[in-house]
Amino acid sequence: MIHNRNVRCVHISDLHLDLVNRTPQGVPVWDHFFWARKTARNLNPDLVVITGDLALDQGSEELYREIASELVFPGAQVLLVPGNHDKREYFATAFGRRYTLDPHWPRLDRVVETGGRTMILLDSADGEISRETLAWLDSFLTSTASAVRRGEQDGTVLLWMHHPPLGGFNRFMDTNYPLRNGRELVSLLEGFAGLLRFHLFCGHYHTDDQRHQENITQYSVPSTWIQLDPETPGFAVASRVAGLRLVDIDSSGTVETLVIEQAPETLSSPADS
Ligand SMILES: [Fe+2]
Ligand SMILES: [Fe+2]
Repeated sequence: MIHNRNVRCVHISDLHLDLVNRTPQGVPVWDHFFWARKTARNLNPDLVVITGDLALDQGSEELYREIASELVFPGAQVLLVPGNHDKREYFATAFGRRYTLDPHWPRLDRVVETGGRTMILLDSADGEISRETLAWLDSFLTSTASAVRRGEQDGTVLLWMHHPPLGGFNRFMDTNYPLRNGRELVSLLEGFAGLLRFHLFCGHYHTDDQRHQENITQYSVPSTWIQLDPETPGFAVASRVAGLRLVDIDSSGTVETLVIEQAPETLSSPADS
């Protein structure tokens, strides 16, 4: 029997916050984070997911404690996955026991239920998905597929991770910072075509993009810091306008999303900084 209700999520990524450098690239990143928080609160979500790069360069316990004190979303569950600029070993003390590392599983791969929907969080902070995680994911999805065959689940699976496994939409990131074993993850997911439909939400590329391949729809969310030019082979800032993505999943598993960007009047002028 399927018991799902509508679930509303807000996807935020790549905050790149720092306690010392508060305006990297001239961007007031804390103000942009507060814009994202206010925008998310107004959308009344069930769930807020932040997919990594909370830290500008390198995470610290002090920084994460400061972020944790600001991560207040009344009525919503908040989930985090680490990015390549984060230090996952500091997550538990700042963000709670959910992020405690197991010595036998030193990564923050997690499965969480929200509104009857299973959310899979994958830890790609090392630039790849570990062998153990791929094996675990394969067996978890095999049981999910069996539940779909028995009519107990509808086949919509939500995945949240920092790196996009499907590249091809930002030359600089594809060349320099791709998910190293993205193809392996994609072929694992494609192996469940016909039973499971994956909606995969990621950040890291600092680019608004949506693409579809086989049974995978991948959504890349804009950063709340800077957006990178997709065509330039080198590092080039395309925009300093923050963005986030609203994700609505209805009871039948249909997913609709909308990217929301900062309105010009909420942007700080250089004189403000
Ligand atoms: Fe980033
Ligand atoms: Fe990143």
